[in-house]
Amino acid sequence: MKSSAPGKIILFGEHAVVYNRPALAVPVTQVHADVEVLDSPRAGIFIHAPGIDLHAELNSLPPDHPIASVILKVFSTLRLPSPTGRRAGDEGGVEISITSSIPVASGLGSGAAVSVALIRALSSFISHPLLDEEVNTLAFEIEKLHHGTPSGIDNTVITYNKPVYFIKGQPMETFKVGKPFTIVVGDTGISAPTKESVGDVRLLWLRDTSNFENYFNEIAQIALIARRSIEHGRPELLGELMDHNHSILQSLTVSSPELDKLVGAARNAGALGAKLSGGGRGGNMIALVDQAGAESVAQALISAGAKRTIITEVR
Ligand code: MEV
Repeated sequence: MKSSAPGKIILFGEHAVVYNRPALAVPVTQVHADVEVLDSPRAGIFIHAPGIDLHAELNSLPPDHPIASVILKVFSTLRLPSPTGRRAGDEGGVEISITSSIPVASGLGSGAAVSVALIRALSSFISHPLLDEEVNTLAFEIEKLHHGTPSGIDNTVITYNKPVYFIKGQPMETFKVGKPFTIVVGDTGISAPTKESVGDVRLLWLRDTSNFENYFNEIAQIALIARRSIEHGRPELLGELMDHNHSILQSLTVSSPELDKLVGAARNAGALGAKLSGGGRGGNMIALVDQAGAESVAQALISAGAKRTIITEVR
């Protein structure tokens, strides 16, 4: 049984979304996590994730290990006996192979994508395929286990593989793209766990609540106007909104010199606007470009130190 899940980028609203403000995110299908679950003649559940050098039997991993926890959660949700009870001598087992082209801790949702692909492949393999809503709920529980106080936007956009207008705790809402537009993603190559930047913003918000509430309200306005512009087929209006959103993210302290450098380089190379995307402090930034200018902005990002770029069309 095979399953694949895309990466994602947040167009507008990261961090504020943790505080119940709306955010917009879209899937990035150029990168993905892939999981295959197969019968095995040997007893036990064997996990192979060569990208993180993991080759282990489930029993040998701690229950809160990011991959073991997904497998255990699938079994407990389906009310099936815990697979860790299985020992050699039990008939047959399972081999799980996990590969991913999504860079880890970069804001592209690598953890959520592995969870979603693994939940789908494993539940189908054991003949209990789950509905999208159930996959999303499970993936969110895993996100909460590993990422502190996530909003749930990553697992939602990745589970549904659609543009998402997201408000925490509310049913998933997609939005129409009136006219396709092109985004260049630039990776600083600096791995920055979202948990840390989200935790730091929380401390600052506790200390300076009224200013931070104002920042979040401003971001909410930007996300609303952005949604309208996208739906009305006026994506060129997003450039200025990205610049504005980036400057508020700087005030939230989640940008970094490397992100600012890439954002500046994109603008100098003709991007209509640019901002960091995701948790910040490292990871990725995004730039809005006209299709013809995409390659030269991508080149400028590499010259400014980006480790890699992705050109993606939102449609
Ligand atoms: C991470 O992709 C986006 C953040 O807003 C965190 C979250 O929403 O859980 C920074």
